[in-house]
Amino acid sequence: MDINKILSEIEEEIKPFLQQGKVADYIPALAHVDPDQFAMSVTLFDGTTYSIGCSDTKFSIQSISKVFTFTKSLNIYSKDLYKRVGKEPSGNPFNSLVQLEYEKGIPRNPFINAGAIVITDTLLSHYKTTNDTFEKILDFIKNVAHNDDITYDEEVYLSEYNHGYRNLALANLMKSFGNLENEVEDVVRSYFKHCSITMSTQELSRAMLFLANHGTDPISGEKFITDNQAKRVNAVMLTCGHYDASGEFAFHVGLPGKSGVGGGIVAVVPKLMSIAVFSPRLNSWGNSLAGTQALELFSQKSGLSVF
Ligand code: DON
Repeated sequence: MDINKILSEIEEEIKPFLQQGKVADYIPALAHVDPDQFAMSVTLFDGTTYSIGCSDTKFSIQSISKVFTFTKSLNIYSKDLYKRVGKEPSGNPFNSLVQLEYEKGIPRNPFINAGAIVITDTLLSHYKTTNDTFEKILDFIKNVAHNDDITYDEEVYLSEYNHGYRNLALANLMKSFGNLENEVEDVVRSYFKHCSITMSTQELSRAMLFLANHGTDPISGEKFITDNQAKRVNAVMLTCGHYDASGEFAFHVGLPGKSGVGGGIVAVVPKLMSIAVFSPRLNSWGNSLAGTQALELFSQKSGLSVF
């Protein structure tokens, strides 16, 4: 397979899509990014990375951080975690409140905002302080990315905190049902902070490699999670990674993936590679429009998918 050729074809074919969609503006700091950017990186098991576009530009990973927090929490709590968060698709937008009331404060899955907030709460209970919790999340990301140069964006963090009405509503609702152990304020601050971590597509594709290889980094041989846990994280990415567009993504791309409103998407090709794309304009579900298209083109041209 000629990955260079596939990527240069994608770079051409993606152009008409770069003007479509809308940058997230409910987090005001995210509205300032250059909307026409595009990047894609593919990292193989031997560490070779192929990239197009602005692949070393760091962007706000937002909900992609939920893959790392879910992985970490699953590793700590194992299946006890599912007493507090489900593993079914929600069929609802990522920030929806409605289902949570009916289902008594137990979020459908770890990737919708409510579920990710519960996951952050479990990490806060484990690590005790907000500072330690954030440091451990960041350390985990640095470890899987084999890169010490990863940090967060204070402006994006504060911007989301100052406009985080829905997430505060979700957290308060779950607190009222007894599904948050820590103070709402501490939980949402920690959640916003890990969402504001910045990474490039090169860094993200490297960081996801362990999930393509049963939880073990194929380059260093380091085992981050068990085979079973890696299977679970991939399954939840496939079924819930794009919220109410998860079916669409599975249909068109056919790979476990996770999006973020910063315009990033990561995808895993089991036993072969991981892929990251970035393009800030979003479709109506809040997922990168050109990024989704680029992944569909990659899957078509390479013939790679889990199906
Ligand atoms: O909580 C939020 O709304 C954001 N910090 C993350 C949402 C997100 O990335 C949704 N993904 N497409």
